[in-house]
Amino acid sequence: MDNNNACVVVGGHSAELKLRSSTIGPSVLDIGSLYEQTKMFTYDPGFTSTASCESSITFIDGDEGVLLHRGYPIEQLAEHGDFLEVCYLLLYGELPTAAQKKDFDYRVVHHTMVHEQMSRFFTGFRRDAHPMAVMCGCVGALSAFYHDSTDITDPHQRMVASLRMIAKMPTLAAMAYKYHIGQPFVYPKNDLDYASNFLRMCFAVPCEEYVVNPVLARAMDRIFILHADHEQNASTSTVRLAGSSGANPFACVAAGIACLWGPAHGGANEAALNMLTEIGTVDRIPEYIARAKDKNDPFRLMGFGHRVYKNYDPRAKIMQKTTHEVLGELGIKDDPLLDIAIELERIALTDDYFIEKKLYPNVDFYSGITLKALGFPTTMFTVLFALARTVGWIAQWNEMIEDPEQRIGRPRQLYTGEPQREYVPVSKR
Ligand code: CMC
Repeated sequence: MDNNNACVVVGGHSAELKLRSSTIGPSVLDIGSLYEQTKMFTYDPGFTSTASCESSITFIDGDEGVLLHRGYPIEQLAEHGDFLEVCYLLLYGELPTAAQKKDFDYRVVHHTMVHEQMSRFFTGFRRDAHPMAVMCGCVGALSAFYHDSTDITDPHQRMVASLRMIAKMPTLAAMAYKYHIGQPFVYPKNDLDYASNFLRMCFAVPCEEYVVNPVLARAMDRIFILHADHEQNASTSTVRLAGSSGANPFACVAAGIACLWGPAHGGANEAALNMLTEIGTVDRIPEYIARAKDKNDPFRLMGFGHRVYKNYDPRAKIMQKTTHEVLGELGIKDDPLLDIAIELERIALTDDYFIEKKLYPNVDFYSGITLKALGFPTTMFTVLFALARTVGWIAQWNEMIEDPEQRIGRPRQLYTGEPQREYVPVSKR
């Protein structure tokens, strides 16, 4: 047997399986030929031990609390970079030179407007529609407008679609918000940076001059950086699976948005703030901690725990700092929700249940407080996550299309239903 291979013996069959090395992190056992050799499948619902693809975009070491994009630590990118620089890095694999950055910013900025007909879509929704429902529909609808960037076999069209999505998501997200609150849409202003432009589209009104606060714009930008990519999470895997059939990128990203909405994933930031509001006062925290530990109570501490991070989520640390910066800038000295969050975190981090299960605050624990202070209603929180994650989805989608091993994703199953049986006419049942 080849030294680089592993031998698995099952049910009287032995199979020689390839070992594939990673640059960092666990290697993988390539089980692609397992069925052929043993007539058996593997079983791993929730993919706890299964790599679904090869990727060179993002690396997470959950035990050490490390997150790298193309090798660069998230802390350094959040401290020194800006969101569009991170977008470039995720898409092209390297940090841009000054000239490349200027060119990239220009190319994104000149795709910020959406087709005017898109605004008609919004009026079809009820004003009280959840903005994530609106986003699922509107992003999917982009494929009806940009026919010149849906040929996935053409690298140029793929890049145009990628830039379009990065550029138009803030415009659509701001439109969803404005529609929700009954204000007129604000068009993008291309001499502003990405985050400032977004804040302006959300918070400017035609009757007043809007001056962007640079501290808040920087915080917004940092929130986008922190959510830009997170390797093969549920929504990214959804985008890849949808894309594996050859679906166009706008449709794939709409599928990602639908998946992100769930409270176990992107919806957790909204759920976390709702939970802090429900707790209401610091003295009620023990009651909620007890509920979170009770096996018979489905309640979970939202913003706590992560499938991969079994140490502090590095994004949560940066987010916590950003929260303080935003509250400081806005002169919010006593935010009761922040007091509850800090105390909840302190209690949970010293509680045996949370220590044993390695449950730490995740990025969503503090992002809700920051977004609320910036002026966003809770229903917009997951929309902002989707806006930022679009680059991750699209970079991963591009990587998948370019992968020579790429095939339609088609999991197998462990069938536990009835064996074959004869049809019985209704009169005899
Ligand atoms: N509160 C209380 N107990 C928890 C929590 C929590 N937030 N999270 C996990 N547990 C317990 C869970 O009950 C289980 O206990 P036991 O072993 O006794 O059955 C154990 O910890 C393992 O939980 P799991 O559900 O098997 O873990 P998972 O890896 O499948 O789920 C998770 C990860 C993020 C879905 C989960 O921790 C959770 O529901 N957290 C709250 C929602 C949340 O904050 N999600 C945002 C994740 S970060 C942003 C993103 O990725 O979108």
